[in-house]
Amino acid sequence: MQERMIQLRRTRSLFAYWRDGRLLFHNFARRLTVSANPIACEVLDFFDSWRTFQQAAVRFADYTPGSVRSSISQLVKQGLLVVNGSPEAAEDRRLAKEWSAWLPEGSFHFSTKDPPYVDFSNWSVARLKSILPKTQAPKIFKTVKGVAKRLLPACAAPDSEFIRVLMARRTHRRFSKEPLPLETVSQLLRLVWGTTGYLHTPLFGKLLRKTSPSGGARHPGEVYLMALRVKGLQAGLYHYHPGGHHLERISTNATPEKAWLYCGRQRYVKDAAALFLMTAIFRRTMWKYGYARAYRVVLLDAGHLCQTFCLVATWLGLAPFCTAALKDTLIERDLGIDGIRESVLYVAGVGLPPDGSSRKPAPASARLRPGIEDYFGATASTIFSKRRSPRRESQ
Ligand SMILES: Cc1cc2nc3c(=O)[nH]c(=O)nc-3n(C[C@H](O)[C@H](O)[C@H](O)COP(=O)(O)O)c2cc1C
Repeated sequence: MQERMIQLRRTRSLFAYWRDGRLLFHNFARRLTVSANPIACEVLDFFDSWRTFQQAAVRFADYTPGSVRSSISQLVKQGLLVVNGSPEAAEDRRLAKEWSAWLPEGSFHFSTKDPPYVDFSNWSVARLKSILPKTQAPKIFKTVKGVAKRLLPACAAPDSEFIRVLMARRTHRRFSKEPLPLETVSQLLRLVWGTTGYLHTPLFGKLLRKTSPSGGARHPGEVYLMALRVKGLQAGLYHYHPGGHHLERISTNATPEKAWLYCGRQRYVKDAAALFLMTAIFRRTMWKYGYARAYRVVLLDAGHLCQTFCLVATWLGLAPFCTAALKDTLIERDLGIDGIRESVLYVAGVGLPPDGSSRKPAPASARLRPGIEDYFGATASTIFSKRRSPRRESQ
């Protein structure tokens, strides 16, 4: 096809804003930010529906022909215009359709996927400190001044199993090389992501109940087991079906290296026995709540599930952890999900505690040892996401 007959349209995954006096366009689906002249707004407005180069040349006849062509080529290259029939155009259409109720606010979900991660594990504390903001860290407690203070009764927590588990929960980053029994994985899946019953409602029909709450009982969460070292189960990626309490094998593509890549190259993840890749099917929540605030509910739901996971794993004498430092697109590709209708949100992982350490939750008092975790908010091995610096290109 002749170049001038190629049809172009403005990407639907677009917002514009000003920063430091410069107009920036952000394609949130492709995470591309470019600066441009305000005239680009007029050009992008013109390409609201499929239009050709030739039509643009007529519309912008007042400009020199070469400059219109080069501006349009730039806009295509920078992902602000899509070409009819291209994979980008198909994905653009799918995203706009699937997320129409939650856009533009919901663009946050896409803008924040796949950030670059930097491994700071070998950095000294002094070097780490040097990259922290130069201002003082915010206070860890808030005190309301000028108001009456009311002391509360001493809290004598009964030495119950529940309190012991609650107090023993920690983020673990060292694991035994032993495999996890399949029964243990089954218990984790059952107690965290399994169904505990059904709600029968006149308006919404049959809804799920789980051990974690879910906004509107929509339960958008799904979970995939990445079995790395599970006795009696082939290493692989499995979808968990809560209704039937069974696994559906997606692939045998599960290695410690893959796990490490999934979780922003955090070293300790390589030693985990299993990961639980938590995703959401947004439509379940969006169907009922057609406003973007409900996106928060999807994230809050994932948080609830993860805390339940940490507590159940602790109760089972395991070493749990959770991480939001993810290579979203890589995980989604391996799971065979599109990242639009269903997207990964959070990863929980587990192993047996390192050899010699207790498998039972420690008494509450043993938990209060300060460690490097307490010093740096997380461990020094935590991977920080780089501070944002949008790619700026002029056109
Ligand atoms: C949403 C979320 C994301 C987290 N991401 C990471 C992570 O990427 N890497 C990591 O080592 N720890 C991660 N953590 C664990 C925290 O660092 C940990 O909870 C914190 O240091 C407090 O320690 P504790 O869990 O033992 O109480 C995450 C925790 C939460 C709640």
